[in-house]
Amino acid sequence: MGRKFCVGGNWKMNGDKASITELCKILSAGPLDPNTEVVVGCPSLYITFAKPLLPATIGVAAQNCYKVPKGAFTGEISPAMLKDVGADWVILGHSERRAIFKESDELVGEKVEHALAEGLKVIACIGETLEEREAGKTEEVVFRQTGVIAKYVKDWTNVVLAYEPVWAIGTGKTATPQQAQEVHAALRKWLAEKVSKDVSDNLRIQYGGSVTAANCKELASQPDIDGFLVGGASLKPEFVQIVNAKQ
Ligand code: PGA
Repeated sequence: MGRKFCVGGNWKMNGDKASITELCKILSAGPLDPNTEVVVGCPSLYITFAKPLLPATIGVAAQNCYKVPKGAFTGEISPAMLKDVGADWVILGHSERRAIFKESDELVGEKVEHALAEGLKVIACIGETLEEREAGKTEEVVFRQTGVIAKYVKDWTNVVLAYEPVWAIGTGKTATPQQAQEVHAALRKWLAEKVSKDVSDNLRIQYGGSVTAANCKELASQPDIDGFLVGGASLKPEFVQIVNAKQ
């Protein structure tokens, strides 16, 4: 089997030419474990700027896109445009998109379908809020979110699922390795039952939420954690250590 470890950096709405140049220098110096796939989620506006500054082995992701190729959708960006300027990936369904920009499960699913059809690889994000966890609804929520994504995905080859408990994002409150592993294992079981054994065995599931150099190794040692989606720490030199977390 062997799911290649995959670490994504999610820069969010951060960076300018100067700081992106510095960050790309750090990533170029590495060294980065060649057995880990690395992707950086760059603000769309800076994709053409960042791409030539990064090693060719690092994939470049946008952090959002729309669900159709072109047209009267003021302010939106299509997967075709992202590909045209050099993006390889797009992060979709991030909890900030869901909560702040009111993206529904259905819209996230439609975006995933269109991005894949246009040839982008997709990091699809799911995760429960603190209220949902405390109400014992974690599995119900992540299965529902994954179920809607699954409705729109025919071929999972170019998909990575990112489990990001909302209460752990940007809060410094990481899920314990056990808490994360528990949800990842439940998702794999769900995938085996609802999608296929093959997808369950091969789909990479990243953990995201306050991953740092200090906690990444123990998280990476969990059998169903296949990488990370990293926010805050992806803007710092410690991102290199996180990329190299898998022993
Ligand atoms: P964080 O963000 O690492 O800053 O918690 C993770 C994310 O939002 O993808």
